[in-house]
Amino acid sequence: MTQGILSLRVNAIRHEAQGILSFEFVDPSSHSLPAFQAGAHIDVHLPNGEVRCYSLCNSSEETHRYVVAVARDAHGRGGSAYMHDTLRVGHTLRIGRPRQHFPLREDATQTVLIAGGIGITPIWSMVQRLQQLGRDWSLHYATRSRAHAAFLAELTALGQAHPGRVHLHFDQEQGLFDLAPLLRNGAKAGTHVYCCGPRPMLASFELATSDWPPEQVHLEYFQAQDVPALVQGLEVELHRAGKTLVVAEGQSVLDAVLDAGVDVAFSCMAGICGSCEVTVLAGEPDHRDSVLSEQQKATNKTMMICCSGAKSARLVLDL
Ligand code: FES
Repeated sequence: MTQGILSLRVNAIRHEAQGILSFEFVDPSSHSLPAFQAGAHIDVHLPNGEVRCYSLCNSSEETHRYVVAVARDAHGRGGSAYMHDTLRVGHTLRIGRPRQHFPLREDATQTVLIAGGIGITPIWSMVQRLQQLGRDWSLHYATRSRAHAAFLAELTALGQAHPGRVHLHFDQEQGLFDLAPLLRNGAKAGTHVYCCGPRPMLASFELATSDWPPEQVHLEYFQAQDVPALVQGLEVELHRAGKTLVVAEGQSVLDAVLDAGVDVAFSCMAGICGSCEVTVLAGEPDHRDSVLSEQQKATNKTMMICCSGAKSARLVLDL
């Protein structure tokens, strides 16, 4: 994908917590960057051709920089290791324009934000935005220890200035964090709840909010939520390219499309970033992504072709 790619310079790298660095990207000619909203993420194109998506953690009022924080993942695919070990101030990287799959309802009467570990990144941007708007918000941020808590100085200062808003939880001091009591009293009109963190935390959040109106519940996955649908023999018509493909054993729809030489955007390959979203012209997708809401999935208007398959024998895609 080349459309909408920016060439940005690493202007600063900061130690945020144990195993977490933040990276500030700016335009080399000091031009303003495309605007973003709290909760948005950017695709970072690594020199080896791979792409990683990271949530923006700075204030959405800032137009001179994008800031992402990256946790070193010893079991990852190498993206965080590159960012930590090789990327240096002064280097230039190709960065996609901000995209939004975790939007903040800025008109909520009350907002409850829950973050675990590196899941603080989009949540911290949301906190700054709600604070700028003068909204009623509270944050519950759980990490293994104080040393693992990113933005700790900023959050502590904010908590001191606004008592009762910032709740920090360190598992090694207080035992495992349990979010259920926060949500026990059920949904209140106008209250929106957000969660970003490791998979067990998101699973607890989904359980605790299962009786909430879906439009008041917002969560973002950092890892694939579902197993991909690999549908051997699925027939896929690419309407604009005038080609019909058959998905082979072990292939995703995206693999088959790329093998056919058709250019299509993609990034995470795990159904969490939204970059491979394609319009469905006919057929019934088998949705396996964490991007589309249940309502959006039910319309079958689009699908993420990196992980989703089909319940029908044939799909027609607007490609
Ligand atoms: S490539 Fe990220 S959702 Fe498909």
